[in-house]
This record gives sequence, C-alpha cells and structure tokens, in this order.
Amino acid sequence: MERNLPIGVFDSGVGGLTVVKEIMNQLPQETIVYFGDTARVPYGDKSKETITAYSRQITRFLLSKKVKAVVVACNTASAYALETVQKGCPVPMLGVIKPGAKTAAASTKNGRIGVIGTEGTIRSGLYEEYLREISPKSRVFKKACPLFVPLVEEGWLDDEVTRQVSRRYLAELLEQQVDTIVLGCTHYPLLRKVIQETAGDAVTLVNPAYETACELREMLAERGWLNDGSSAPAHQFYVSDGAEKFRKFARSILPGDAATAEDIFLKVLTL
Ligand code: DGL
Repeated sequence: MERNLPIGVFDSGVGGLTVVKEIMNQLPQETIVYFGDTARVPYGDKSKETITAYSRQITRFLLSKKVKAVVVACNTASAYALETVQKGCPVPMLGVIKPGAKTAAASTKNGRIGVIGTEGTIRSGLYEEYLREISPKSRVFKKACPLFVPLVEEGWLDDEVTRQVSRRYLAELLEQQVDTIVLGCTHYPLLRKVIQETAGDAVTLVNPAYETACELREMLAERGWLNDGSSAPAHQFYVSDGAEKFRKFARSILPGDAATAEDIFLKVLTL
C-alpha cells in the first residue's frame, strides 16, 4: 500500500466535517477525499437496506479515488451499513460507533450512559451492543433526537428554540442520572454548548469523532501507512447537491487553511 494515498471519508451531508476536523487536527499531513451525500440527506430516518445501498455506492466511488482507508463519518451509516460494506472492501473501513462506545465506557463513573442519535442509530442498538461488550455492568439509556439535525442545518446552534428542544429530549436521560452522554450523530458536536447547558457540568459529553481520529492514526501507524508529509495535502470534497451551502459549512467547521481556502476543491457529483 502506498502510504501517501488519501483517506476516504463519507457522511450523509455536512455533519461528517466534524470528523474531518478531528482527522485534520490529529493527522495534518494526510489528504482527505470527502463525499457528502447532500442530495439524499437525511439518512437518519431511512431503512437499513437503503443506507447500505448508499454506503456501498459511496465506498465504491472513494475506492475509485484510490484511498488507503475509508472512514464512515456518519453514525447512521456506521450503525446500519459498516458491517456489510466492509466485507467486500479491499481497504480498512472504520466507523464512529465503536470509538464512541469506547470513550463513553472509559468516561462514566456511575455506569449510567446516555446515547443520543438519529432514529436509525438508536433503533440499530449498536452503541448498546458495543457498550455491553466493553463494559457489561453499564446501563444504557437512549433517545432519538430527530429535530437536532435540521436545527444545526438551519444554523440555530445557540438559540432559544434549540434550548427548548434540547431540554425536552434530554429530560428522560437526565431523570435516569446518566453521567455521560454520547453525541451519537455527526451534527450534535455543533450543539455541544446547548446540550452541555441542558445536561449540566456534571455530565460528560462524548464526541466519537475524536476517538475515531485516534483509531485511524493508530491503524495507519501500525501498518506503516502514515503519510510521510513530503507534499502538502490537497483535500478533495465531493457533494451530491448544494455546493454553496456545503462550502459555507466547511468554512465554519474546518480548521486553519482548509477552512479559509477560497479555492477549496469542491465538486457536485451524481453517483
Ligand atoms: N450524519 C448523520 C448521522 O451521524 C446525521 C444526519 C442524517 O440524518 O443524515 O447519523
């Protein structure tokens, strides 16, 4: 495997940029090829079959860009499709759920963990499954929060409406005295301030993106596949619709140069 090949990352839309941000912070020498399926977002309310078909199609596209690994930067796709799609994939694939579960298990003190995510992620039960494996004594309380994604897309990150929605969604989990909440959807780290305010400082919020980037770094290092940094990364971003909205989002989320570059490589593509 050529160590300087890019890393493929995909999501249902813009949310996966929160994962890209962590990868760029931890692995600044790596090149990213990102696909955001902005024409078909949201994934959160679609069936397992549909999400698996989309994920397979996008993985095929990323492989055509000769990536050395694929990161499924979408909780719903990680929950529904990763296991199936990785079977036929010639390069390693990583999802966000296992790393998120690992961090939550390490963080909880009272063994009571809350998981919030899209309807699909919550329905899949995968966070619980991993948590049961890693930390059999912990108890998991989950809640689908479907309104959070449109609120983020609307840019209402620090808004009274968002606060009200957050209070309503989190009430059940807080009644259960969880001390850790997994932000099990790529959009939720952008609502961190509001969610933390609702949950209170005693609750630790887990962003699976951070641990996913750590696992990616470890996996590449173990295989001797870390980019040698001999040339500056030339990231490529592909979306299936709405390039301008994506560009705006990318600028507000991505670190440093990647965010400010006027000429960020961005292409609209129909798979
Ligand atoms: N990216 C999705 C996830 O992490 C959230 C948005 C959607 O529903 O597509 O589950």
